[in-house]
Amino acid sequence: MANDQDNLLKKVISHAKEYGFVFPSSEIYDGLSAVYDYGQNGVELKNNIKEYWWKFMTQMHDNIVGIDAAIFMHPTTWKASGHVDAFNDPMIDNKDSKKRYRADVLVEDAITKMEEKIEKEVDKAEKRFGESFDEKMFLQTNPRVLEYKKKIDEANDRLKNAMNNSDMEAMKQLIVDLEINDPISGTKNWTDVRQFNLMFSTEMGSIAEDANKIYLRPETAQGIFVNFLNVQKTGRMKIPFGIAQIGKAFRNEIVARQFIFRMREFEQMEMQYFVKPGTEMEAYEFWKAKRMKWHQALGLGSANYRFHDHLNLAHYANAACDIQFNFPMGFKELEGIHSRTDFDLKSHEKHSGKKLQYFDGESNQSYVPFVVETSVGLDRMFLSILSNSYKEEKVAGADGEEGGERVVLSIPPALAPYKIAVLPLVKKDGLPEKATDIFHELKVDFRCYYEDKDTIGRRYRRMDAIGTPYCVTIDHQTLQDNTVTIRERDSMKQERVEISTVGEKIQKLVSINELLKKI
Ligand code: GAP
Repeated sequence: MANDQDNLLKKVISHAKEYGFVFPSSEIYDGLSAVYDYGQNGVELKNNIKEYWWKFMTQMHDNIVGIDAAIFMHPTTWKASGHVDAFNDPMIDNKDSKKRYRADVLVEDAITKMEEKIEKEVDKAEKRFGESFDEKMFLQTNPRVLEYKKKIDEANDRLKNAMNNSDMEAMKQLIVDLEINDPISGTKNWTDVRQFNLMFSTEMGSIAEDANKIYLRPETAQGIFVNFLNVQKTGRMKIPFGIAQIGKAFRNEIVARQFIFRMREFEQMEMQYFVKPGTEMEAYEFWKAKRMKWHQALGLGSANYRFHDHLNLAHYANAACDIQFNFPMGFKELEGIHSRTDFDLKSHEKHSGKKLQYFDGESNQSYVPFVVETSVGLDRMFLSILSNSYKEEKVAGADGEEGGERVVLSIPPALAPYKIAVLPLVKKDGLPEKATDIFHELKVDFRCYYEDKDTIGRRYRRMDAIGTPYCVTIDHQTLQDNTVTIRERDSMKQERVEISTVGEKIQKLVSINELLKKI
């Protein structure tokens, strides 16, 4: 990770803690690795993201309904879904540093280093040849570049084969052949590679002998698959239709770092779209476009999103891609869109012995529908918004603003924890009383914050730091003519308006429904 991006992530983590967005879990006991708690401002932002997703998926699509399935499910669910046998990551330990790594990630990092070496060769040659440099020709003919490319292709092929065949010996040999060192100890003193199942298990039942091993769900999707017929029949749903769900998922990630990007307990927002076999590619393209629009309507910059097609498809998928976001660590997966064929429903049919089919009245036929799923991590959405919004700016200092530096979170107003701060200019002369009246009136329609301590400049800074888009300031003129100033967070511009127009003016600017209209 480049240094300034590394710094940005560190700053975001510390800001998130200082301003009540995200705390390490059980921090008084030194925290729990890759588990986090959302604080008083974090939970508001999170709830707003959920509302934005839920309303878009369900309210704006009349053929999609939501459910809330339990986290615990019958253990056979996970046999049928393939998670018991195949939800594994290959892990390896370094005997000197005692650190554990994902073997495939070590190989991928080594490949990235080789790619960087090619980039360096290009830079060097560009400097040497100046204007006459032909990059395309150089990449096709330079012996060192060709040697690196050959090694990269070989490593990619061997990685793919080792993963597809669950061949852990081949994976170890690849690490040896690529001469990969432990980044901490610097040695090549590796253990063998072992498969590690990512599901957390526990036992249900009070008597040890009777207790059944059950799992904390590693994805919310299976709660939707097993309820497919319940919803279809009781909701009288006609294909194509979707079932949406927001909920917790748990994965015992081997290497969990990068803050809330990779957690052991996290939240997913998933939708399974059931379609007639043969129409799945149309649905896949439809949802790719829709989901991208949903992301881009937030205004975080379209260049920060891109599609990444999966080249190695899971055995049950016939198309899959990620929507990647430009996080402080670079472009990484934010959402997955997968065409999962009829794999899950058919497998549940087989394991449960129950039919999970749709009766098509028009063709008078029953069939197992195909499924296109959209799956976005709520915590990753949170991180994309927080890291993109974090800005350090110089402020000149006028109109009550304090000069110097400010940290502002330019969170999309519709998602901001507080929409309006109500601030009496000074804590005397009847201004707090007037401001309190205004606060009570506005809080019915908006999440509002009232504060009368400190200078107005400091209070503006505190509101900037938690991303409050509008500050309504009550001053001496308010007492004379019932006007207030509205200060806008990003521009810091102030406008004097009639008190009675404040709600109406701000409503459209902070409304999730207005965001939805843009899609
Ligand atoms: N049902 C499909 C599924 O679970 P996935 O690609 O494994 O697919 C979907 O996960 C999304 O869940 C990812 O795009 C990511 O946003 C989020 N996610 C997955 N693992 C996560 C983790 N350990 N921490 C935070 N978010 C995670």
